Amino acid sequence: MKKPRISTNRNAIEIKDHYKSKVTGITNELSQWKIANERLTSSDLKQNITLLHGSADDLNQMLPSKDRFDYITSIDSAYHYNTRWHFLESAFKRLNLQGSIGLYDLAIAADFLHKASPIQKNIFKFVCDTVSIPIQNLVTVEEYEEHMEDIGFEDVQIEQLDRRLVFGGLSRSFDQQYTTAMKYGIGVSLSNRIFLKVSSFLFGLLGSKPWLVPIIVKGVKQHEEEYDGP
Ligand SMILES: C[S@@+](CC[C@H](N)C(=O)[O-])C[C@H]1O[C@@H](n2cnc3c(N)ncnc32)[C@H](O)[C@@H]1O
Repeated sequence: MKKPRISTNRNAIEIKDHYKSKVTGITNELSQWKIANERLTSSDLKQNITLLHGSADDLNQMLPSKDRFDYITSIDSAYHYNTRWHFLESAFKRLNLQGSIGLYDLAIAADFLHKASPIQKNIFKFVCDTVSIPIQNLVTVEEYEEHMEDIGFEDVQIEQLDRRLVFGGLSRSFDQQYTTAMKYGIGVSLSNRIFLKVSSFLFGLLGSKPWLVPIIVKGVKQHEEEYDGP
């Protein structure tokens, strides 16, 4: 059995099975936590997976002080944390030496940040508030890398993904779900139909406009404290 990893979303079972490791998962959504717990049906799952309900903003408040991890992941969620930087600082402290962090996350496009008019910026801030993204989390890829290094991560790699594939793909997927539900007469409530349509529209917009950059972020902890170089 490999050393434990921490997962901040609901993919704990897949991670445990694939990597044969112990997993701790955190979600702030009570219903998600309850459903995920109900899936821990066997003693193998119960022994190897711990699911916590609470915020991943600050891992020190969520986890017993002795807990350390080889890997910490946050897939499609760190941009919601208040703030992502507090999460990364606490994650750094909780990693074993040579342990690493991996995220799917979002950055803001440098051109949009620097060239947007005050009105555009206010609209963008309103959208971020509405979808619970603290404005401090929206930084460019370069600024993201600097924050990671300031926290102490080394070998930082940030891969920029094609927004048309990521957001455009999500938009098409929401559209498909809507079309399938309508075609086969699957009962979908009005609020869910509106949700599917609005999500498809918003992700379509993000896919076509150079505002946000979907990114994969990696970093390794090679020293206990912030490293100033040789
Ligand atoms: C956009 S969804 C991504 C879901 C993910 N891609 C998946 O398939 O499960 C964002 C997720 O982040 C979680 N989240 C947001 N803020 C959080 C926080 N402060 N602590 C823990 N989880 C949080 C939410 O519960 C939600 O499930």
